[in-house]
Amino acid sequence: MANTILVGAQWGDEGKGKIIDVLTEQAEIVVRTQGGNNAGHTVYIGPAKYVLHLIPSGILRPDKVCIVGNGVVLDPVGLVGEIDGLDKLGVPVTPANFLISETAHVVFPWHRELDGQREVRKGNNKIGTTKRGIGPTYGDKAARVGLRVIDLVNAARFPQRLRERLEENNEVLKALGAQPLDYDKILADYTRAADRLRPFVANTVTYLHAATRRHANILFEGAQGTFLDIDHGTYPFVTSSNTTSGGACTGSGVPPNRMDRVVGVMKAYTTRVGEGPLPTEDDSVSDLLHGMGREFGATTGRARRCGWFDAVATRHAAMVNGIDELAVTNVDGLDSLAQIRVCTAYEVDGKRIDYVPSDCEVLARCRPVYQEFPGWQTSTETITQWEDLPVNCRHYLLTLAQLTEARLTITSVGPAREQTMFL
Ligand code: IMP
Repeated sequence: MANTILVGAQWGDEGKGKIIDVLTEQAEIVVRTQGGNNAGHTVYIGPAKYVLHLIPSGILRPDKVCIVGNGVVLDPVGLVGEIDGLDKLGVPVTPANFLISETAHVVFPWHRELDGQREVRKGNNKIGTTKRGIGPTYGDKAARVGLRVIDLVNAARFPQRLRERLEENNEVLKALGAQPLDYDKILADYTRAADRLRPFVANTVTYLHAATRRHANILFEGAQGTFLDIDHGTYPFVTSSNTTSGGACTGSGVPPNRMDRVVGVMKAYTTRVGEGPLPTEDDSVSDLLHGMGREFGATTGRARRCGWFDAVATRHAAMVNGIDELAVTNVDGLDSLAQIRVCTAYEVDGKRIDYVPSDCEVLARCRPVYQEFPGWQTSTETITQWEDLPVNCRHYLLTLAQLTEARLTITSVGPAREQTMFL
């Protein structure tokens, strides 16, 4: 398979979990390189449904090693809960199949509290975060005051470091009118979590370098999507990490010249959770998909905003990620439609443009220019071969790839592994 970076080409929730699962089959190691437990992908183990937030879904396959890389922000209490949840389902998580980078930054309760407080203060301009403390944790990392896993598992050092950080953050919380947090409780919770996690903690950078030297296949799984990237997304309505392909390098310590290909995952339409511009948002698409029971977030349960496929956006995603191959998911969501729209340009301030403007306020004023395609009005759910897809469906998908300027290699028509077609 070679070393593969997988990214979301839209606003997250592109169905990456399913494609990761399919590609994991060919990988020896799966690495999560950014984000935290703001992400969530749902996995089905027999009749049981389970949502993973930090642990790569590769953990479900017995012969894979899963790694939480240095670029991730990690909530240790949440992670222990995830390990226990998998354990109850009979999925072993051991130091033989799961490693945590010692330099990943740790999420604390004040990060979550600050996340919530800042959202309230923003009022109508709120970002719509998952309130998992992601922004404040990355903020501490950039300000060089964060605590890392290496500090958490050092029983001699951690209590004092925790006290220093809590003292400062309690002052901030009090100034914001929030309740200060209790040192003893956090120390007890985090010490318990540290004791559980210590066996998994490793220098994942040297581990991955040894793996690249013996040409192991590594899959770098992206969380969130291109337009939630802190640099390339619709700032400030973004998450706080680099969700684009470069994040796989900085978030793992594996350099760009060891990466072989970038796979971009996108839906056959567009969705977004949280606030911020979404040029092709359309109530008729939301009504259709929500009516089918689809497009509710795995982490927060929020209904996702839905719209037509935005090729201006995905072309931008192909550019900043260097997408070689495309996977288009959720094709079956459009099965019932007679006509399908695709945005091929924007109109703003009397001008037609074919790129994503950097100013979020300008993007919010962009009106989509649509091209219409005939639908296929037949169920694709049971189709397992590309050639068996309705001709209008194949034409639609190939057009999306052409407009995105990347090669279509995977199409998915449902959550199951069998509902995946390779071109
Ligand atoms: P945060 O990452 O919790 O700070 O949230 C920032 C923005 O990213 C919000 O609009 C969230 O809804 C969005 N977001 C964060 N994680 C995900 C995800 O896994 N899927 C989709 N949107 C996400």
